Amino acid sequence: MSSLISKDIEAAAQLLLNGNVVGIPTETVYGLGASIYNNNAIDYIFELKRRPKSNPLIVHISKIEQVQELTIDFPDKAKQLAKHFWPGSLTMVLPKSASVPNHITANKPTVAIRIPNHPTFLKLIDLVGPIAAPSANPYERISPTTAEHVANYFPTGLPLILDGDSCEKGIESTIVGFEGNDVVVYRLGSISIEDIESIIGKVEIKNEVNGRYTAPGMALKHYAPITKTILTDSLEEIIDEFSGKKIGVIRYQNTSILPNVTKQLTLSKNGDLTEAAANIYSFMHTLDHLKLDFILIEPLPNTSLGRSINDRLKRATHL
Ligand code: TXA
Ligand code: MG
Repeated sequence: MSSLISKDIEAAAQLLLNGNVVGIPTETVYGLGASIYNNNAIDYIFELKRRPKSNPLIVHISKIEQVQELTIDFPDKAKQLAKHFWPGSLTMVLPKSASVPNHITANKPTVAIRIPNHPTFLKLIDLVGPIAAPSANPYERISPTTAEHVANYFPTGLPLILDGDSCEKGIESTIVGFEGNDVVVYRLGSISIEDIESIIGKVEIKNEVNGRYTAPGMALKHYAPITKTILTDSLEEIIDEFSGKKIGVIRYQNTSILPNVTKQLTLSKNGDLTEAAANIYSFMHTLDHLKLDFILIEPLPNTSLGRSINDRLKRATHL
């Protein structure tokens, strides 16, 4: 295990208070965290990730009262969603107050906020105050779901990666905003549209790969392994075309082994989409380290979290 990885929350808090960036665990994916009040540390996050400055960061808080300080409006629908999904993997875009530095929001008038559902991270926020954190992957790469993944991406450049075990959810938070009276989904994620609509009624989705996309970070190519990766719903038919190549396969439920495959993984043999979400990035990391010629992945049923996972797979395989 990398010497950077530690369970010492106080040490991580001290580093953050001194203006450092540390790897942090959340229930969705690991992040690169900094105090929102330290502009140098925020700049360093962008540098480490090689992330365009136009792409704003999410602010993580531990108590709902902190929303008052960071925003100038907390609409009723947002309050309702917070009541049901916080702490948890729902990020809400709200009009920002002057106390949120423009460094974090890429000069936008809004700030993305969530209360994560991870005891280690919540304790860290209690010690440090609001923490800005993007996912802890270099720009366009697969998000990390273990401290080891973060250490592999950033063997130098971080003083510490706070270990909070494997991420329970395994894909990023769902991002919503409020346009007039409408709730708009900017990024599909680990809370399903169905669950959000059961609380708030119909929402508009501005995220889909084939449609218009509005979140600046929702570039079409994203979440990609280095290995050439193909999304196909006719795996059994095309597998022969890859004979002589080193192939890795990720299937949804099916465990029957395909011929000539170096490594085959099944996301959830019981067809549990929550389990599939928890596994998808970690399986992609595993296959990406095997020096394969191709990774072939089957799409999932396009409902609930299957839709969020398919969104990531389309971006991971976009040329
Ligand atoms: O689960 C997650 O959300 C993880 C963990 C670490 O919390 N974070 C994460 O951050 O996925 P990041 O930076 O990789 O993705 C955040 C997305 C980006 O697409 C960004 O453009 C969008 O949130 N975003 C941030 N602030 C925004 C704003 N004010 N308006 C619209 N989109 C915003
Ligand atoms: Mg990200």
